[in-house]
Amino acid sequence: MPKTDFNADWLFEGCDSVRLPHNAVDLPFSYFDERVYQRVFTYEKTFDADPTWARREVSVVFDGAMANARVSLNGALLTRHADGYTPFEARLTGLLQPTGNRLTVIVDGSENPGIPPFGGAIDYLTYAGIYREVWLNVTAPVSIGLHKIETPNVLAAHKSVTVTTTLNNPQNLAVSGTLTATLCDASGATIATTSASVTGSTATLTLAGLADITLWDTTTPALYTLNLTLDTPQGQDTATSRFGFRSAEFTSDGFKLNGKPLKIRGLNRHQSFPYAGYALGRAAQEKDAEILKHDLRVNLVRTSHYPQSSHFLNRCDELGLLVFEEIPGWQHIGDLAWQKESVENVRRMIRRDWNHPSIIIWGVRINESQDNHDFYLQTNAAAHALDSTRQTGGVRYITDSELLEDVYTMNDFILGNEEHGGNRPRTPLRPQQEVTGLPHVVPYIITEYGGHMYPTKSNDQEQRQAEHVTRHLEVLNAMHGDPQIAGCIGWCAFDYNTHKDFGSGDRLCHHGVMDMFREPKFAAYAYASQSDPADGIILKPVTFWARGERNIGGVLPLIILTNCDEVELTYGNHRLKRVGPDREKYPHLPHAPVILDRRHFTHDELGLWGMMWEDATITGYLNGKAVATARFVSDPVATTLQVTPDTTRIAAHEATRVMVRALDQVGNKLPFFPEPVAITVTGARLIGPSLVPLRAGSTGFWVQSTGAGSIEITVTSDRLGTQTLHLTAE
Ligand code: GAL
Repeated sequence: MPKTDFNADWLFEGCDSVRLPHNAVDLPFSYFDERVYQRVFTYEKTFDADPTWARREVSVVFDGAMANARVSLNGALLTRHADGYTPFEARLTGLLQPTGNRLTVIVDGSENPGIPPFGGAIDYLTYAGIYREVWLNVTAPVSIGLHKIETPNVLAAHKSVTVTTTLNNPQNLAVSGTLTATLCDASGATIATTSASVTGSTATLTLAGLADITLWDTTTPALYTLNLTLDTPQGQDTATSRFGFRSAEFTSDGFKLNGKPLKIRGLNRHQSFPYAGYALGRAAQEKDAEILKHDLRVNLVRTSHYPQSSHFLNRCDELGLLVFEEIPGWQHIGDLAWQKESVENVRRMIRRDWNHPSIIIWGVRINESQDNHDFYLQTNAAAHALDSTRQTGGVRYITDSELLEDVYTMNDFILGNEEHGGNRPRTPLRPQQEVTGLPHVVPYIITEYGGHMYPTKSNDQEQRQAEHVTRHLEVLNAMHGDPQIAGCIGWCAFDYNTHKDFGSGDRLCHHGVMDMFREPKFAAYAYASQSDPADGIILKPVTFWARGERNIGGVLPLIILTNCDEVELTYGNHRLKRVGPDREKYPHLPHAPVILDRRHFTHDELGLWGMMWEDATITGYLNGKAVATARFVSDPVATTLQVTPDTTRIAAHEATRVMVRALDQVGNKLPFFPEPVAITVTGARLIGPSLVPLRAGSTGFWVQSTGAGSIEITVTSDRLGTQTLHLTAE
């Protein structure tokens, strides 16, 4: 029997019936006391034993509970798990009563200094609760446990798959059975199958001589499935895992996917959402991967700073989005017991995730910690022992750090050094060997830049946002121009809630290229515009198009983020000449932005920018053909309330995002429109408050289905009226 959903009807704190995933304390958007969830919470589920469970193994699997969990059945302690980011299992076999079983989970959300990532200050929140799904697992007494799928010699014409399986046998029975592995393609068609008899606690099967296999990569993320069946005298067990055929290697001259060079352009992601913290389920997790792949058009995400939801990683596999996954931690290294736990974090992360083709490197250092020879020898050894196919990295910001990993992974926050009292002129990235201090070149990637060096809000002044954009572009350009740098991963994709010790005091780090609702800031298009025009034209002028928004006034220099090859500006009735990308400033970018400045205007044309402020149209050309336009009006007025759901059909119990925007007469967002909107939801749960201000002309919320049926959502603005949406919950 496969695992079944065990998420319904949990009694929370002795009074509320809740469904998992669950956030113990929903937080306001900002300015809250983050200690409110740093305490103990109790979840309890009452259930009867099913007669078909007799003579079978019964357990409950928790995908994740923050931060420290104790599970008991009918008062007897079953297990503890002091890691908020990985799964754990509580075995119920032999302890069940026919009726009225009480499964109790005590979740301690406090920042216990004994377990990673705690003990110091951390720049993110660890929202308490059973925030991922829970499953009931009923199997034959001997069942299929962990299984690792490997694809040696993946670049050979005939490929092979090896699966190493551990058998779960908690009753210590004498094992005699048959294990069968069947390889299927994405359509479910069988490609190959093999069987072997098994007697011990592990078994390794190989399927070789496989022809016509499609490699997994970022453009064709071909996935295959391995179905395992174990037949023993006590019954049958099955398991299914997806994987891909690919090789991934960081070398001293860059990263290679399937032997081919690929520059990595990535962003860091925290798995948190406004109000609900970590506790949004599959749909929201998948959507984040889609946003990174399709909207931000990056090719890698770093799961800063912990193993993230399996739903997110599964979607990365499907989309061809590479992943840098790392263990929990932030700057602080605890005592030896803490370090021992951290080494276990490495093992738990790898065992959970080793079959994801998207994951190309394991981060086995505490993010930005100091060197610690003994500790990091152990984390590296643990990773290499479990997985010889992936390299390790360890994110640091220190130079001359001891390289115990395969890849030197560096947070290079150098840009802006001069403004901050340093003596270095503006430098996007330091040369590799200046950072490593090593006499030779090593595999090297930039894992963070930006962030706190230049926090930028969506409604910050246009000029500041242009500088925010420029900083991201300069690093991307430097990375693309340096063959010794495999890639760069910006800080960060989305704004996130944080502790009082960080951010803007509002419990938010405004470091994202998108806000917390995943609404793009201008800097988002610094990334998107590097994509191939075949994936969609990007044309984003970095302006609100207003006379007096910048210091002194005007909109020059005007950065236009685009993958077009020319751009034309029409101002009032005057069509000005076409301008191409600024390859002088950005020689290495795949798509340098167009920058309109005084150079591009004659004296007379500049005169046109007189006291009258006019409408403008910016047109993007590709191969001489107009392919996109951006229109701006000189007299924007609030005209439309736009309310857009991510989807009109919500899967059972999932949450979908709804974006609300105030638009002018040509459909541009009004960046400083602050008026509130009132939200009502019937037939589903609204996550967040029902009266919210627009921030930078937009806001968002999630609606979670509570059962099949129709959902009605209204969003009302005093000035712009009401919009009504009808969604269907499946
Ligand atoms: C880094 C850190 C990140 C975040 C970032 C802000 O030092 O690794 O977690 O705090 O700074 O820029």
